[in-house]
Amino acid sequence: MKKIYLDNAATSWPKPEAVYDAVDNFNRNIGGNPGRGTTSFALTPASMVLETRERLAQLFNINDPLRISFTLNITEALNVALKGSLQPGDHLIISSMEHNAVVRPAFALAELGIEITVIPCNLEGLFDTKALVKAIKTNTKMVGLLHASNVTGTIQPIVEVGQTCRERGILFLVDSAQSAGVLPIDVQRQSIDILAFTGHKGLLGPQGTGGIYVKPGVDVKPLKEGGTGSQSHDTKQPQCMPDCLESGTLNTPGIIGLGAGVGFVLEQGIDTIRLYEQKLAEILWQNIKNITGVKMYGPAIAKDRTAVLSFAIGEMDSAQVSFLLEREFGIVTRSGLHCTPFAHRTIGTLQQGTCRLSPGFFNTEAEMETVIKAIATLAKKA
Ligand code: ALA
Repeated sequence: MKKIYLDNAATSWPKPEAVYDAVDNFNRNIGGNPGRGTTSFALTPASMVLETRERLAQLFNINDPLRISFTLNITEALNVALKGSLQPGDHLIISSMEHNAVVRPAFALAELGIEITVIPCNLEGLFDTKALVKAIKTNTKMVGLLHASNVTGTIQPIVEVGQTCRERGILFLVDSAQSAGVLPIDVQRQSIDILAFTGHKGLLGPQGTGGIYVKPGVDVKPLKEGGTGSQSHDTKQPQCMPDCLESGTLNTPGIIGLGAGVGFVLEQGIDTIRLYEQKLAEILWQNIKNITGVKMYGPAIAKDRTAVLSFAIGEMDSAQVSFLLEREFGIVTRSGLHCTPFAHRTIGTLQQGTCRLSPGFFNTEAEMETVIKAIATLAKKA
């Protein structure tokens, strides 16, 4: 049975051909370690890595590509952002929709004396900027917010939140795990001080890639020190970006593959990708919501969410729904809590979990019709 892959929120698949080619070409024909020495085997990969930085800078409207450091994934980027910026006595504000990649480091920091406020979102997962304003204190150092939920697709009002932070001199950290490559991101217009991104979802690159953008003038301390290929005489870690946050050999083939993924996104255009994914998600939403026994979660209006939809069938365990969708119909989804118990508590699904559908740019309308019929069949039997 040919599978219908609807788990792009976990990792996008398939990738554009250019991504497979770029990784293979690097491994087979280029090789070398970027910035380690002066031979062509150091310089060529360094310029290819720089090209990925430049494409990301173009996509996110970042003036200086060297303010982007690569990490192994967005979890590492978020850990660096939080642990490298906050000191005991500082106050951090997050939302009740955050992923464990923010929640766990934040609560680890709480044990070290960092104060945390979690702002409750509404039943659709939407953040309330008025509640944020009320929660701000004199020691509030940072607001950390995910751009779009990995459970409900809810898009947060980051322009408003960014402005609120900027006016008060508070650092604004954005988790773009579900939005990079899917929604417009403009660090200047959205007043983003620190942007964490993953390479393997909407940016269509390989796993093991991600990174962090840090605005000029903002100082983020590294979590690890080591070889950077620069200032090697010094026992101290270089202070400048990107080297200060990039110790050790990079995932060079992955980053070059990511460059091809970002190139694809730039070529298609974010608006085209967004409109297409929104159309697929809307077909699912409008049809699944009418199936007896099925409950949908998240915003009812298409423009308020990404192509990430959560649903439940009666009292059926979400893992059972996901299992049957694949075994009976070849449809690949993700069930459970999606590493985001906070979000499930917010929308009331902490016990049952949800089954999540996340179509991507390579899915088709015909596949959506198959998915709707499959869910209707399961719901009838439940
Ligand atoms: N955080 C990813 C997801 O939502 C892996 O599935």
